[in-house]
Amino acid sequence: MSAPLIVLVGPMGVGKSTVGLLLAERLGVGYRDTDEDIVAEQGRSIADIFVDEGEPFFRTLEKEAVRRAVAEHRGVLALGGGAVLDEDTRALLAGHQVVYLSMDVEEAVRRTGLNVARPLLAVNPRRQWRELMEARRHLYEEVATAVVATDGRTPEEVGRAALDAL
Ligand code: S3P
Repeated sequence: MSAPLIVLVGPMGVGKSTVGLLLAERLGVGYRDTDEDIVAEQGRSIADIFVDEGEPFFRTLEKEAVRRAVAEHRGVLALGGGAVLDEDTRALLAGHQVVYLSMDVEEAVRRTGLNVARPLLAVNPRRQWRELMEARRHLYEEVATAVVATDGRTPEEVGRAALDAL
């Protein structure tokens, strides 16, 4: 494997893109985001892909987008919040620096509110957040080489903590 990537994982809305761009700037490396790759390739939003094709189709696109990005990219890579659900994707991350940006459920509800553009939260945000976190926390922890809590912190503070953790 060539130079390890800095991969950001964690729930949607935790600030992976904002923090990822900050980290890339500080380190003078490139930034890439698999959600953006999928939107560019499909020519439609993630929400539209979920509605038009369903979640399993999106997960197939996501798995391929992560595989491609890990093979091609150098620098900082942000993954969608559900990318770690896939076992092969988790295995691909071995050997890279993987920073899990964490937040608790109440912080998640505060940050995303009733944002219906996020298809997984459209019905009952608090209950769905609790279920998502319970289902995924151990997967984020499994792939992480560092965990940075974001609760009550600005993106700059999180970025500094992530740099310290690398
Ligand atoms: C998802 C997170 C989203 C996006 C899609 C599904 C998830 O990415 O990939 O809506 O399953 O948690 P962000 O974490 O970048 O918002």
